[in-house]
Amino acid sequence: LFAGSVDFLKGVVAMDGLPPADRAEVCFAGRSNVGKSSLINALTGRRTLARTSNTPGRTQEINFFTLGESHYLVDLPGYGYAKAPLPVVERWQRLLKAYLSGRVNLRRAFVLIDSRHGVKPVDEEIMALLDGAAVTFQTVLTKADKVKPKDREKMLAQVRGALARHPAAFPEIVLTSSETGEGLPTLRAIVAALA
Ligand code: GTP
Ligand code: MG
Repeated sequence: LFAGSVDFLKGVVAMDGLPPADRAEVCFAGRSNVGKSSLINALTGRRTLARTSNTPGRTQEINFFTLGESHYLVDLPGYGYAKAPLPVVERWQRLLKAYLSGRVNLRRAFVLIDSRHGVKPVDEEIMALLDGAAVTFQTVLTKADKVKPKDREKMLAQVRGALARHPAAFPEIVLTSSETGEGLPTLRAIVAALA
């Protein structure tokens, strides 16, 4: 699937702009700057497909990418970013929540967690929303290259503890790095298996 074509389809700022729910969809959610857009680029091998930045709040629309004929990949605006003007933040949050709870073809939400920081209260809020909407979510730890091997187990334990509180959580955690490529084959296989 990932060897085939991938293209940017559109950026959406309101629910009525969503493309038809006519294929399997997976989305990448997470706090601002956690590495959502970078992960989409790394997974697809297209370095400039999704826009990335050092500055949190880079992705401001819901960006749809077509993966072959069968899947949409969705890059979401980050949550938990307080520096944008409040009305803007509130508009993103409303759209994000409407999307996450109302998209019928959403097969799985990947909730990205920075390997250095673990699960924060805002992450738990999103997880609770996904529980309520009965959307299965899977945790993807990002920036694994920034964590010493000996600290990994501690971080995984913290994340497992948080996931145990969420019925919609898929138990397997995927440890990734968009820099080194770690975990990417696993994640590609997971997406490909979601028909
Ligand atoms: P928003 O769109 O603002 O919500 O951010 P995002 O989650 O899309 O993050 P983005 O992909 O733009 O990456 C944020 C920063 O983290 C960039 O400076 C990336 O280069 C860096 N980054 C992303 N993934 C990795 C990774 O696996 N390892 C390292 N070391 N840095 C990463
Ligand atoms: Mg982004």
